[in-house]
Amino acid sequence: MFEAPYPPWDFTIKGSFAFETVIKRWPVILTGIIDNIYCRNHDLGVSLRDKTDEAEKATIEEIITEGKAIIGLVGQVKYDMARDRPLEPIPDDGEPLADVYNAELEKLAETKQNTWLAVPWLYSECYLYRLVRSYFVQTKHWKTYDPFLAQKESTFQKSSKAIYQLATTMHELEKDKDSLAVNPENLKVIFKEMVEMCLWGNATDLSMLTHLSHEQIQHLQSVGKDAQAARAEFILRDDQEKVWDHLKSFAGKADSRIDFVLDNGGFELFTDFVFADFLVTYTPYASKVVFHPKLIPWFVSDVTPPDFKSTTKSLLSPSFFPQEATPEGAPATDSSAESREHLYKMVKRWESYIDSGVFSLSVPIDSPLGSSDKKANFWTTPYPYWNMKELAPELHESLSDSSLVIFKGDLNFRKLTGDIKWPTSTPFETAIGPLAGSFPILSLRTNKADVIVAIDDEIAEKLESSGEKWRYNGKYAVVLFQPRAE
Ligand code: F6P
Ligand code: MG
Repeated sequence: MFEAPYPPWDFTIKGSFAFETVIKRWPVILTGIIDNIYCRNHDLGVSLRDKTDEAEKATIEEIITEGKAIIGLVGQVKYDMARDRPLEPIPDDGEPLADVYNAELEKLAETKQNTWLAVPWLYSECYLYRLVRSYFVQTKHWKTYDPFLAQKESTFQKSSKAIYQLATTMHELEKDKDSLAVNPENLKVIFKEMVEMCLWGNATDLSMLTHLSHEQIQHLQSVGKDAQAARAEFILRDDQEKVWDHLKSFAGKADSRIDFVLDNGGFELFTDFVFADFLVTYTPYASKVVFHPKLIPWFVSDVTPPDFKSTTKSLLSPSFFPQEATPEGAPATDSSAESREHLYKMVKRWESYIDSGVFSLSVPIDSPLGSSDKKANFWTTPYPYWNMKELAPELHESLSDSSLVIFKGDLNFRKLTGDIKWPTSTPFETAIGPLAGSFPILSLRTNKADVIVAIDDEIAEKLESSGEKWRYNGKYAVVLFQPRAE
């Protein structure tokens, strides 16, 4: 197994994002879960008043009691965390990976790294989401409940402006389809816009940005040439040219498949769909796209199969996005009616791609939360991706057939690089260890954690001396490509 020559990020460094996470962010995330269950329990309690059927009333009371028990358990984790207590083994709840987490925990105990403030950050954060999952699994009525769903949906609903704008951009591409087909240079320009749109789509993840206002979220999601040009200088390492050259080698090949190792749902998943649509509809370089979700609620906003399935339905529903307020008496503008039409047409095309298998999910689309899948389970282990070949051979083999595997977002980047304190100039190829060369890898990551690699010394020094929290304030990003070994 690969061993990195430096230690992983942990909570010992004051001022690191790891430290901020354990002190501030996790308590907020856990409180969010408690609030969510509390609200559901409250609504159920109110609904009890109108019920006359005794059996139904008893069931509702049972749900409320189980909800209260989950609240107690989540509250206990918060308490243990703040007191640096040892992590408890994950109960054998019948779902995958409890044994994997517990075996790692035993190893950490041998070096006394098994308490909340001593444990490596990557392990403990993955453990936290698996532990919370176990609280739901062990109930009768909350097994398929996603405590982050309401939050995911409400942020998605605030993204309508950028969504309509992108739908119109895609509609306009249609007019240029023929000329694009014969002019790869123009296609390359659009490709770059797509990569950047998909990259910055990762800036709005909920585990980071729950405190932002509607306006701030819209600003972050601003799309189009100018907004993107303004952000180009924030891409600290940009391998787009190399990716493009790589993709071009698939021209005319009938079965070129692109894989998206997904990150967040809502707006980010929307941008993934748009990018995937562009690749299969407008370029001759891809015929199929496979999307890889997480099988349990994960890092608040990550895509689960139910999220994936509901995304196209939400986008097609006329009532999903709140209508923009118009001045009194003003007629609804044609442009908004037009963009709704553009969105409708585009999402219908995605649905047809899903029906025909051009787009597919790596697991059955109806998989409920907590399903098990040999390949997909790997994404919710605590492991870095270095040893995928040994730890998840089926997944490794299947990705080996891919023309390009796109790893979205911050956590995927942390796992690709092992969340290690690499020197900032470490080549990406070194940081991803034995995974390098297995299949073509593209990491699209906005910087939201301490780990960073592949940055020129000059740039890193300038940023370090600026005092800015450039490693994790979400303002900077990297586009990193590693080809398949010859
Ligand atoms: O909480 C830590 C973290 O991994 C951060 O690095 C990041 O803010 C978030 O969780 C996940 O980000 P992403 O959704 O981009 O993987
Ligand atoms: Mg995420």
